[in-house]
Amino acid sequence: MAEHIHPIFDRLIQRTDREQFLQQQSKVLWLTGLSGSGKSTIAQHLERKMYNKGFFAQVLDGDNIRSGINNNLGFSVEDRQENVRRIAEISKLFLRSGIITINSFISPTISIRKMAKDIIGKEDFIEIYINAPLEICEARDVKGLYQKARDGIIKGFTGIDSPYEAPTHPFIEIKTDQLSIEQAVEEIYSAIKPLIMLNTTS
Ligand code: ADX
Repeated sequence: MAEHIHPIFDRLIQRTDREQFLQQQSKVLWLTGLSGSGKSTIAQHLERKMYNKGFFAQVLDGDNIRSGINNNLGFSVEDRQENVRRIAEISKLFLRSGIITINSFISPTISIRKMAKDIIGKEDFIEIYINAPLEICEARDVKGLYQKARDGIIKGFTGIDSPYEAPTHPFIEIKTDQLSIEQAVEEIYSAIKPLIMLNTTS
């Protein structure tokens, strides 16, 4: 069979072909930060902004990952590691499809994020630190989980009785207690734009 296929068709479609198709360079934007720091809100607004600007991006967060493919995982160290490992592998598939992912996960430790970076590849892993002081996240307590953690109803809650290690050299750091959502999204968008624009000279 194969010898009847014309050579021009006898080649797998490459990532660069898909990037040409989508007119963008794919990347993994990895948003890390405490629960309640604003990761998912920023991710969703950023996704919308990129869409409006003609970029094809997809948010991955607890809503579509922890409720589905990772619904057998909790918040032990091992489960968080497995959560992040699967997310990184999924992101890699998107990456090869030419799609930009905007990942919103606490991913609490330097080693857990290093694993993600190693799976994805350092050229394509863009670490974005969504930084809000614990007191602010706790005061917001959008889901009421900090209160439950303080009351001992939830054990091993990040920032309370489970560690959060801030990135030491993020690509960009966003202080959500000092910026509006629009400002945060604008800062991230202008920083990443050169990375996702197709280089038309090559
Ligand atoms: S991660 O540590 O494995 O990266 P992930 O971002 O997927 O965490 O999920 C965090 C979300 O799960 C939090 O925003 C919060 O709503 C919820 N959650 C439930 N239990 C915990 C816990 N023990 N620690 C942190 N977040 C928790």
